[in-house]
Amino acid sequence: MEKQINYLKKYYKGDINEAINRLKAGEPVQYIVGNVDFYGYNLKVDKSVLIPRRETEELVEEVIKRVKMFNNPTIIDVATGSGAIAISLSKELNTHIYASDISSDALKVANINALNNEANITFLQGDMLKPYINNNIKVDVLVSNPPYIRYDEEIEDIVKNNEPSIALYADNNGLEFYEKILKDCKQVLNNKYLLAFEIGCDQANDIAYLVNKYLGDVKVEVKKDLSNKDRMLFVYNY
Ligand SMILES: C[S@@+](CC[C@H](N)C(=O)[O-])C[C@H]1O[C@@H](n2cnc3c(N)ncnc32)[C@H](O)[C@@H]1O
Repeated sequence: MEKQINYLKKYYKGDINEAINRLKAGEPVQYIVGNVDFYGYNLKVDKSVLIPRRETEELVEEVIKRVKMFNNPTIIDVATGSGAIAISLSKELNTHIYASDISSDALKVANINALNNEANITFLQGDMLKPYINNNIKVDVLVSNPPYIRYDEEIEDIVKNNEPSIALYADNNGLEFYEKILKDCKQVLNNKYLLAFEIGCDQANDIAYLVNKYLGDVKVEVKKDLSNKDRMLFVYNY
C-alpha cells in the first residue's frame, strides 16, 4: 500500500487524500491516476478497459522479434482494449495496424491513446474476426490477448471488482475466444502467417489442440513469461 501511495503522490494530479481513499476502498492505482506506462508509451486507462499487464509487454517484445520474417506485413490486434498491443507495435515497427474490439467504450479509449501517441491505427468494432472478414482484410500477423479467465476461476478482488468482466472471462474453460479465432482465421490469413496469443498459464495444451484441429499440421511454440509460466503461444506457417 505504501508503494502505491507514493505512486499516487508522484502521478496523481488531483486531491491526494481523495485518491488515497479510493485506493483504500480497493480501486487499482492505475484507474485512479488514469494512465499507465506500457512499453514506454503513456496510455489512458479507465474502467472500460483492462489495465495492460507486464506479461503483455513481453508478448509485444516477442512479436517484434518474429515479424521481421515478413516484408511489410499486415498486422491485426484482435480484442485491443486500451490499444496497448496495437499502439506499441505500430510505434516500434513504424507501421500501420488494424485493431478491433467489441466494446465501443474500449475503442474510444484506444482511439484517444492512438492519437496521443501518434500511432497509425485503424480501429474496427465487432466480434473477434468478424470486422476483418466483413471488410475483406487479409492478414499476415494476428496478435491477440483475448479474455481467457474461466468463470469459476478465483481471481483477486481488485481485478474482479474493478476491471471490465467483458475483458476477463471466457466460456469453455476460458478457451471460447481462442477457438472462435482459430475456427475463423483461415478466412483472413494469407498463405504465410504468424498467430501470436497471450494465454492463461494452464491453457497451452488445450490451445495447441485447437490449433491442430482447425489449422492442421502447423508449428506451435509456447513461451514462458518472466515468472516462468506458460504465457504466449505462437503459430507459424512460413
Ligand atoms: C484481456 S482484454 C485485452 C486488452 C488489451 N489487448 C491488452 O492486452 O491489454 C480483452 C479485450 O477483449 C474484448 N472483447 C471481449 N469480447 C470480445 C469479442 N467477442 N470480440 C472482440 N473483442 C472482445 C474486451 O472488450 C477487452 O478489451
